[in-house]
Amino acid sequence: MAIQEVRELNKPVSTLQIPQHVAIIMDGNGRWAQRRGQPRLFGHQAGTDNLTRVVEMFADYGVKYLTLYAFSTENWKRPIDEVMGLLGLLERVIRRETANLKKKGVRLRHLGRLEGISPALQNAIARAIDETKDNTRITLSIAFNYGGRAEILDAVRRLVAEGVDISQMDEELFSRYLYSDGIPDPDLVIRTGGEMRVSNFLIWQAAYAEYYATPVFWPDFGACEIREALETFTRRERRFGGLSPTGG
Ligand code: IPE
Ligand code: IPE
Ligand code: MG
Repeated sequence: MAIQEVRELNKPVSTLQIPQHVAIIMDGNGRWAQRRGQPRLFGHQAGTDNLTRVVEMFADYGVKYLTLYAFSTENWKRPIDEVMGLLGLLERVIRRETANLKKKGVRLRHLGRLEGISPALQNAIARAIDETKDNTRITLSIAFNYGGRAEILDAVRRLVAEGVDISQMDEELFSRYLYSDGIPDPDLVIRTGGEMRVSNFLIWQAAYAEYYATPVFWPDFGACEIREALETFTRRERRFGGLSPTGG
């Protein structure tokens, strides 16, 4: 654990500061399975089984936007059976959970490219988005076939195609061309599985997000880790390039 984190853990938190938007890099499924002598896909299955309860817990804390990184544009480099297995799992979980998401007040969004995804999965995603579009408790965005660089390039392509006057461009207008249009920037980015890197996730939107990494693998990420992440977030002082209120 980093020295800063140890110091942060020592300070008690009386009132939790709840981030409006939490984004999670759900990493470590493969290692979780390998530690159990199981194939990597077994870990992805366990990771998928963890989704619903995590969404529910963040919604209960009052988080309004939750974004989960499920499959990156770079994950196509993996062996074909793992890729196919992951795509199949996602389709099954979306089909199985749509009614439940609807009932629980969850609005679903997809961040990423649809091209390259099978028509069956595209349909499952479109149906789930449509059926949950009026929900307001929490917006769950699944970053799937998502890459931060691809997202920026796609935005530029659309801007050019629409003939937008570049001299009128500002950060706010540019953001409207990203997949995440209408979703506020993440306040907190959590990475499970212990790596300390961004892996092409929300590279525009997370410019001023707080980062929190835990060694816990995604299938084991639960109530205790969520509490710890929120407590750590509460202890952070966000300055956005300015000075702290205490002058530091
Ligand atoms: C995260 O788990 C899920 C995806 C990237 C699809 P990994 O599959 O990356 O698990 P590790 O990092 O190899 O343990
Ligand atoms: C990031 O995890 C992508 C997702 C969690 C979907 P990776 O396992 O793909 O990241 P790297 O390769 O370790 O950077
Ligand atoms: Mg990984």
